Amino acid sequence: MTSTSTSTVPEAIILVGGQGSRLRPLTLTTPKPMLPCAGVPFLTHQFLRLSEVGVKHVVLATSYRSEVFAAYYGDGGSLGLAIDYVTEVEPLGTGGGIRNVADRLTGGPDAPVIVLNGDVLSGHDLNAQLEVHREMAAAVTLHLVGVEDPRAFGCVPTDGDGRVTAFLEKTPTPVTDQINAGCYVFRRGVIDAIRAGVPVSVERDTFPGLLAADAVVQGYRQDAYWLDVGTPAAFVRGSADLVRGVLASPAVARPGESLVGGDALVAEDAVLSGGTTVGRGCVIGSGAVVEGSVLFDDVWIAAGATVTGSVIGTGARVGERSALRNVVLGDHSLVGADNELAEGARVWSSAVLPDATIRFSPGD
Ligand code: GDD
Ligand code: MG
Repeated sequence: MTSTSTSTVPEAIILVGGQGSRLRPLTLTTPKPMLPCAGVPFLTHQFLRLSEVGVKHVVLATSYRSEVFAAYYGDGGSLGLAIDYVTEVEPLGTGGGIRNVADRLTGGPDAPVIVLNGDVLSGHDLNAQLEVHREMAAAVTLHLVGVEDPRAFGCVPTDGDGRVTAFLEKTPTPVTDQINAGCYVFRRGVIDAIRAGVPVSVERDTFPGLLAADAVVQGYRQDAYWLDVGTPAAFVRGSADLVRGVLASPAVARPGESLVGGDALVAEDAVLSGGTTVGRGCVIGSGAVVEGSVLFDDVWIAAGATVTGSVIGTGARVGERSALRNVVLGDHSLVGADNELAEGARVWSSAVLPDATIRFSPGD
């Protein structure tokens, strides 16, 4: 047997059961990991990253809108992977979701299993994380990163040897800037030991439980590129970073200022910049400026409109001279001419905003 035998190649689980509520209305029909990001569904970047470290078998732990995943990826053959799907009838939480797919894993009790949150972009060295896991004979090894504001994440202090000493999920009083980056290596037997059939949070139940039992919960700190794309602002930033090559992905062959899908019609004097993605069949009018934004398929941006830092859903229309900054337009919504929408505005799917043109004539 060689060192590359299947027993040494880790399997992987990706957690994709969340509702993606912060990205509504886009996530009403499409689960967050399937939203187009730099030209492909977000999840494709994660699959390719797992492929790069030799993973062949991935189990998707689905719940919300589970049918969308299998319809797109099938058996995974086109990505060189074998993809299995498991659906929770009622969401089981992160730990319950991991436990619920255990019978699809083929490795022995000591085999390493990579577990990814389905909404994270990371440039860290996954092979090095696996290596630390093996060296420390850890129950679980967590990728950790430093962030400016840890309160929205799992705060994870470690000792001098990198051993995790506490796990404080979404604490208002963080004790360190170091957080759970949502990429774990589990010893398979630890997954089997999670209580089956009931909701379990890996962050609030499993990790604190392992620490209380004095199991080796190891941290692997690496401050590489890292982003949770759970909010509209982070989603557009992640997509733009992939398009511009700030984070490399095998799905983006030639990084640049913009990525334009097939059959899109872009006026010669329109400006696409800041890592903008223009989906298939889009039409961009004369003088329009689209900067650091994600346009899904069949979007129309009329002449003279400006769109910055925004996500524009499939088939949505933006009227002439309208200015959009940091907004989300739902699928098939329509924003008439001369509107101004800013900071956090969301237009619901199929909603119509009339023209905002104010016409004064002499004598009014
Ligand atoms: N299968 C399944 N079932 N998956 C779920 C469920 C569920 O019931 N609930 C959430 N997930 C998936 C989501 O789809 C997502 O991919 C992942 O689990 C994490 O859920 P989020 O809702 O995105 O959690 P978060 O971002 O607030 O916090 C988590 O990620 C942070 C890093 O981005 C935690 O793990 C934090 O500790 C961590 O710092
Ligand atoms: Mg998240």
